Amino acid sequence: MTDAYDPEDDGAKMSFSKDMSYGDYLGMDGILGAARPLSNAHDEMLFIVQHQTSELWMRLVLHELSSARALMLQGRTQEVFKMLSRVARIFEQLNNAWDVLRTMTPSDYTAFREDLGQSSGFQSHQYRLIEFILGNRNRAMMKVHEHRTELHRMLDYELTQPSLYHVALRLLEKEVGATFDPAIFHMDTPHAPDPAVMDAWTTVYRDPHAHWTLYDLAEKLVDLEDYFRRWRFNHVTTVERIIGFKRGTGGTSGVKYLRRMLEVELFPELWHLRGGL
Ligand code: HEM
Repeated sequence: MTDAYDPEDDGAKMSFSKDMSYGDYLGMDGILGAARPLSNAHDEMLFIVQHQTSELWMRLVLHELSSARALMLQGRTQEVFKMLSRVARIFEQLNNAWDVLRTMTPSDYTAFREDLGQSSGFQSHQYRLIEFILGNRNRAMMKVHEHRTELHRMLDYELTQPSLYHVALRLLEKEVGATFDPAIFHMDTPHAPDPAVMDAWTTVYRDPHAHWTLYDLAEKLVDLEDYFRRWRFNHVTTVERIIGFKRGTGGTSGVKYLRRMLEVELFPELWHLRGGL
């Protein structure tokens, strides 16, 4: 019989009393220690891990979107395509994650529902920041963060910045030689469809080769919104499967509220122009 494998003989570093280890670098004590179920219900751990991992991915989404916007403002549009594709893939990843959560039945969820109190994803400041960066801006959504001044300030600051779509529209103005109504660029309201913007994007789509960078950017934005829509749809379907038409822990009408959110259009002209091509 051969001797059992010893990684130390193979050169693996085995002592980390003085050096940074894997767990040290990644802050694993903090991450794993953050999962603290409040009940004895078996499925509460699934519920917590699912939310925490989603928040970690959202953190990366914010990192990518902030950099993408900064690069676009510098005119380095080609460099953002990779980032926007990555964000779409992150949403795809989050979409696949619903399959794990769907293994939880209404009975499983009811076993710890009361322990959640009034906490809800509705109060996710990162989700709200993602929506604000993309352009779905609504000050009323910030109220739940008033007791956390640093989070509230972050959201407030975001509303002083042009959204990713605003920045794309500035590039579009230059590309087709248009000047859009200044009201489009109001920082703290959601973007409403505009005929001049629609015409300009249509020009790009009628002759992609003449406007390749903007065309590529537009398709990356559509791709991102496509995957985001799937996330909203998977969320509301999972919610209906688990709580039916009960009110949410956050106090909204639940599925009714989430169905309303399915109507959100982040980049409306990019969807509407398709019917006219
Ligand atoms: C058992 C699973 C889940 C249920 C029953 C559920 C239920 C709900 C309900 C009813 C709402 C509406 C607000 C309210 O009144 O509470 C909501 C909002 C929300 N949930 Fe979930 N959810 C679940 C899983 C998740 C997961 C895994 C995430 C990932 C982070 C998430 C993120 C969100 C977000 C971001 C919102 C706000 C959506 C918006 O305002 O457009 N939820 N959820």
